[in-house]
Amino acid sequence: MERLQKVIAHAGIASRRKAEKLIADGKVTVNGKVVTELGTKVSRNDDVEVNGVPIDKEEPVYYLLYKPRGVISSVSDDKGRKVVTDYLPEVTERIFPIGRLDYDTSGLILLTNDGDFANLLMHPKHEVDKVYIAKTKGVPTREQLQQLKRGMKVDGDYLKAVHAKVQSTDSRKNTAIVQIILHEGKNRQVRRMFEAIGFPVDKLKRERYGSLDLRGMNAGDYRPLKPHEVKQLRQLAEKNVE
Ligand code: URA
Repeated sequence: MERLQKVIAHAGIASRRKAEKLIADGKVTVNGKVVTELGTKVSRNDDVEVNGVPIDKEEPVYYLLYKPRGVISSVSDDKGRKVVTDYLPEVTERIFPIGRLDYDTSGLILLTNDGDFANLLMHPKHEVDKVYIAKTKGVPTREQLQQLKRGMKVDGDYLKAVHAKVQSTDSRKNTAIVQIILHEGKNRQVRRMFEAIGFPVDKLKRERYGSLDLRGMNAGDYRPLKPHEVKQLRQLAEKNVE
């Protein structure tokens, strides 16, 4: 038996808080009866509907995709461009990406049908390392990289890196490969931060997310997460949210 709001959140319909509001507002029925009590527990055999629509009773699934460049972090695109779920054709559950990578960014992205898990990982306070490799035009100095770690205001957003280090440079092409680690996941954050210090990003890849990396994978490959990997991520995120 599980709490109704948790079951709704798990189905990816709403965050736990929004699910509570749906229940309190009388939008949720269990076996045909409106339920407004937040503590109500339901089992897998109960028929739960939100706004008259049955919620899915899929088992939660978790996947890691090595997103290629030129792919939208979405489940559909009205312009017909490739989307991340095109790379997991055998998965029948209604999965969606946790957060997003830009169209031109490659790398590690997680997909799930577990809305609760997705909400947990996307919580602004969760401080799981996201490691990016950026190819910059121009070679930033150590002092300029320090600026990324001190934090900066860009278009009203406060953006900050946990770590930034030049890994290699190409003096002939005047480019650098820089590793940058973020805890946050604001829109186009890495690109905006490098632009702010005068080094536009030419190529960007996310190579690690918490304890997960892309070892042994090529762009376009995916794999299911192992139960211990899901558990570890959940623990990492919960540690910082509570
Ligand atoms: N930062 C960016 O600029 N782009 C991404 O896709 C992810 C982080």
